[in-house]
Amino acid sequence: MSTGLQVAIDGPASAGKSTVAKLVAKKFGYIYCDTGAMYRAVTVAALQEGIAMDDTEKIADLAKQIKITFQPAEPEQRVFINGQEVTRDIRLPKVAKNVSAVAAIPAVRQEMTKQQRQIAAEGGIVMDGRDIGTTVLPNAPVKIFMVATAYERARRRYLENKQKGITTSSLEELQRAIELRDKKDSTRKVSPLTQASDAIRLDTTNLTIDEVVEKISEIIKKTEKHLA
Ligand code: CDP
Ligand code: CDP
Repeated sequence: MSTGLQVAIDGPASAGKSTVAKLVAKKFGYIYCDTGAMYRAVTVAALQEGIAMDDTEKIADLAKQIKITFQPAEPEQRVFINGQEVTRDIRLPKVAKNVSAVAAIPAVRQEMTKQQRQIAAEGGIVMDGRDIGTTVLPNAPVKIFMVATAYERARRRYLENKQKGITTSSLEELQRAIELRDKKDSTRKVSPLTQASDAIRLDTTNLTIDEVVEKISEIIKKTEKHLA
């Protein structure tokens, strides 16, 4: 019996990838893997070690040494670096500001891609990120490219931070920071954020979380039928 499909969900910051990916995984009994959290964890580790953000060699070495693990939990999965919990640390503005630079280091991407392929090897997984459909799992039978306007994405992140009690900048500043990160992610040399040619584009600007989950579930069911 098949253990399930590989489902790749890519897109810019705050398009709704992780929220939806988590719910879809739960619905189908699949594993959920947040690859953004892995790049954020490398960034936290580098900051903790006091490594300069332009010291690409040291950051790459560090990425190879640390072990990033996840533990399912509600409302969000817990993240650990070598057993030390960093669930809250990875969401700090300082980390959001530096993560794109860390994620642009080729050796860091190589290491994370290797680990992500190992996690996804058995199938039955929903993996979200920027390069899952293009680089990490190019043969995934379901690929979604999730988008929403920058204003809507900043609004969502603003509300989320407020709810979580995370100190946040103004909505305008948040939108600027998101646009800057989108630009860095889309223009970097290695595995930039781009839609895979065989991915389905899903604009979530005017969709609720449930509506997006429903649309992706339909795509998975159709693909399962097609492959059966
Ligand atoms: O949740 P949010 O959309 O803010 O970002 P994330 O998914 O946590 O990813 C944080 C950062 O990690 C992104 O801005 C990218 O720079 C990087 N990333 C990446 O390069 N490749 C991935 N597969 C996932 C994330
Ligand atoms: O993972 P990504 O950065 O793409 O986005 P997310 O962290 O899943 O979603 C960002 C915020 O938008 C969360 O607070 C979600 O609850 C919210 N969201 C929404 O309001 N409507 C959607 N259709 C999807 C997400």
